[in-house]
Amino acid sequence: MFASLEDLRVRLRSTRYVIDPVTLKAVYLAAEMKKPLLVEGPPGSGKTELAYAIAAAAETVVERLQCYEGIGEDKAIGKFDEALQDLFLRLQGDQFDDEWGGVHGRLHSLEFFSQGPLLRALLYPDKPCVLLVDELDKVDQAFEAMLLELLSAWQITVPKLGTIKAETVPFVVLSSNEERRLGDPLRRRCFYLRFEYPAIEREVEILGLRGKGQDPRLRGQVAGLACALRAWNMEKPPSIAEMLDLAKALEILGVSEINPEDRDLLLPLLAKTLADRRRLSMNAGFEGLIFDSLRYRDQLAAAESLIAEVQA
Ligand SMILES: Nc1ncnc2c1ncn2[C@@H]1O[C@H](COP(=O)(O)OP(=O)(O)OP(=O)(O)O)[C@@H](O)[C@H]1O
Ligand SMILES: [Mg+2]
Repeated sequence: MFASLEDLRVRLRSTRYVIDPVTLKAVYLAAEMKKPLLVEGPPGSGKTELAYAIAAAAETVVERLQCYEGIGEDKAIGKFDEALQDLFLRLQGDQFDDEWGGVHGRLHSLEFFSQGPLLRALLYPDKPCVLLVDELDKVDQAFEAMLLELLSAWQITVPKLGTIKAETVPFVVLSSNEERRLGDPLRRRCFYLRFEYPAIEREVEILGLRGKGQDPRLRGQVAGLACALRAWNMEKPPSIAEMLDLAKALEILGVSEINPEDRDLLLPLLAKTLADRRRLSMNAGFEGLIFDSLRYRDQLAAAESLIAEVQA
C-alpha cells in the first residue's frame, strides 16, 4: 500500500492528519503485514479520522460499517435482493422449465445480492480499500465472532451464496469507545493502538493544520485550555474536535485571546453536561482555567524559542 515508512509519513501529512512516530510505524506495519488495526480511545480522539486519513494517503476509498446495538449480518454483509429476484422470475415467464437448476443458481449469485460494506471491501477490485468497522464495542459477541472469519481467512460465508474470497485484502481499522470489552480472539488478530488526548504540542499542530491561519499565540492558548480542562476532572472532557470548534468560533468572532469575561460565550462550546456547566459557571473555577491556559501557552512558547536558539 505504501512504498516506505517515509512515503506513508509524507502522504499522511498531506491529508492533514497529525500522527506520532510510534503510531505511524504501527500503521505501516499493519499495512505491510495485512493486520487489522484496533483503535481504542475517548470520543473525538481521532480514531475514525485515522481510517479516512489512511485511505486518502493510499488514494483509495473507505468502506464504512457503522456499528450499533442489534446490528445484523444483513446490514454488514448484505442480503439477497428479493424484489430483483421476483422481477427476474416474472420477466422470464415459463421459459426456463427445463433449466431450473441454472436459474436457481443464478438467483443465488452475487448478481442478485445487495452487498454490505464487509462484502464490498473484500470485492474491491485492483487495489485494497480501507475497511472501517466503526464503534465495534456496540455490537454483541455473535457479531464479533462473525468478523473473525473475515479477519483471519479474508473470506465471508453466506448461506445459499457460498464462501466469497477476497479479491483484495482491505486495510482494516476497528474502532472502539470501550463501552464493552472486545473479546480476546479479536484482539489477538489485531495491532492495538490506544489513543489518548494529545500533548499540547500535538494539539497545537492539529489546530494549525486543521484551522485556518490563526494567530499561533491563540492556538497555544486553545491547546493550553484543552490541557487545563482535561486535568479538571470534567464529566465530559473536551475532545480534539471540540477544541477545533472552539478555535473556529474564536476566529469567526475575531477573538485573539480568551479572557475570564468570555465565560458565558464559551460555556456552550466547552461544557456538554449540566454538571460541567455548573462547575465552569463558577467564576473562580473559570478564571483559574484561563490562568492555566495562558501559563501552558507561555511555557510552550518558551520551550519553542529555547529549541530554536539551540538549533540556530
Ligand atoms: N491526529 C489528528 N490530526 C488531525 N485532526 C484530528 C486528529 N485527531 C482528531 N482530529 C480531528 O478531530 C475530529 C474528530 O476525530 P474523530 O471523529 O476521528 O474522533 P473519534 O475518535 O472517531 O471520536 P468518536 O469516538 O466520537 O467517534 C476529526 O474530524 C479531526 O478534525
Ligand atoms: Mg469515531
